[in-house]
Amino acid sequence: MSFKTIEINTDDKSKFYQLITQQVTGLLQGESDVIANAANLSSLLYHTLEQVNWVGFYFFKRDELVLGPFHGQVACTRIPIGQGVCGTAFKENKTLRVPDVGAFKGHIACDTASASEIVIPLRVNQEIIGVLDIDSPILNRFDKLDQINLEAISEIYCNQV
Ligand code: SME
Repeated sequence: MSFKTIEINTDDKSKFYQLITQQVTGLLQGESDVIANAANLSSLLYHTLEQVNWVGFYFFKRDELVLGPFHGQVACTRIPIGQGVCGTAFKENKTLRVPDVGAFKGHIACDTASASEIVIPLRVNQEIIGVLDIDSPILNRFDKLDQINLEAISEIYCNQV
């Protein structure tokens, strides 16, 4: 698998994330709007990560997760807390890496092309405000290195809003 950034192609995943993290910092700098930054971040990740078919945000509203900015096919608008990968990651307040969504009990299939998924809780001032959800059309797309780096990118987003 190769990894592309807006400027540089590389086969080195760590290098890729180093570059992409710099781009995220630059992209979000000077803007603190939750939606504007979510829109730009989902676009950046969708267009730079290899083998992803959906990147987007769900925000906690009242008592459920509601769809926010995303790139990819249309998606379900509301996810109850504790349901699906997103609702479970939110409820447990921890990142979930699902190597095979077909094997995840209760997985919500918005795009049937999705085969694996990572969902990262978004925490602002220790309060969980939603999740970042990234889907891939290949099995086992996200490893620990992806998790660590995508959590760091999510943190940049959370520190900015
Ligand atoms: N698969 C998610 C639902 C959201 S879509 O993937 C965009 C889930 O099980 O929560």
